[in-house]
Amino acid sequence: MEAKGRFITFEGGEGTGKSTQVKLLAEALSGLGLPVITTKEPGGTEIGQELRRILVTGDKDKMDAVAEALLYYADRRIHMTKKVWPALAEGKWVLSDRFADSTVAYQYYGYDKRVPYQTLENLYKLTVGDFKPDLTILLDIDPKIGLARSLAKAGHMAVKETRHESRAMEFHNNLRQGYLEMAQKEPERFVVLNADKSIDELHQEIVKVVAERFELT
Ligand SMILES: Nc1ncnc2c1ncn2[C@@H]1O[C@H](COP(=O)(O)OP(=O)(O)OP(=O)(O)O)[C@@H](O)[C@H]1O
Ligand SMILES: [Mg+2]
Repeated sequence: MEAKGRFITFEGGEGTGKSTQVKLLAEALSGLGLPVITTKEPGGTEIGQELRRILVTGDKDKMDAVAEALLYYADRRIHMTKKVWPALAEGKWVLSDRFADSTVAYQYYGYDKRVPYQTLENLYKLTVGDFKPDLTILLDIDPKIGLARSLAKAGHMAVKETRHESRAMEFHNNLRQGYLEMAQKEPERFVVLNADKSIDELHQEIVKVVAERFELT
């Protein structure tokens, strides 16, 4: 049988469990003998790591949503051309901790539509073209719970990636609602899961969704 790469993205606000669940799903898929890589945005490449530091650390007002959108898309272009597309061409399963929906959630909905939606669509076309994830898992949780998890984790980190965490509650509520709207608009690509449960319970749900979607047994 011909090997076929798949692109699965994880989305959601701060501390919803994306990084945790990407790692667990990768282990589960590897356990089935599938070739898997995990990656993330921003920061899936060497240049991306530098962009990540600029984007997620420091003062929240050091740049605005327009500048952020452009940097996130620069990261995305390098990520796609140097890592994601080559891996998919080799038949790998690529699990990405965030992708383009994050830019719409944060730079459009979060900031109350500061960057026009059409502009973000145009950037997507320029950068990613007609390509889309095979599946997007949206982890949904009350931002109060997610932020508490995220900030507790940041307490142990040498470099504090908390630039977005430090934004007002309104921002986090906006982006949560934005994600849910996006999921409603593309029900065939998105699966929305309630992330307010144990790591293992959520993992089992994700495995079930992926197994059904891709007919794994
Ligand atoms: N279901 C869960 N219940 C309780 N704690 C969790 C759960 N999932 C993850 N955590 C913990 O919450 C913190 C944040 O989880 P994780 O880093 O996976 O979230 P994230 O969505 O990647 O966050 P960020 O947006 O900040 O990158 C971690 O310390 C993790 O161990
Ligand atoms: Mg994370």
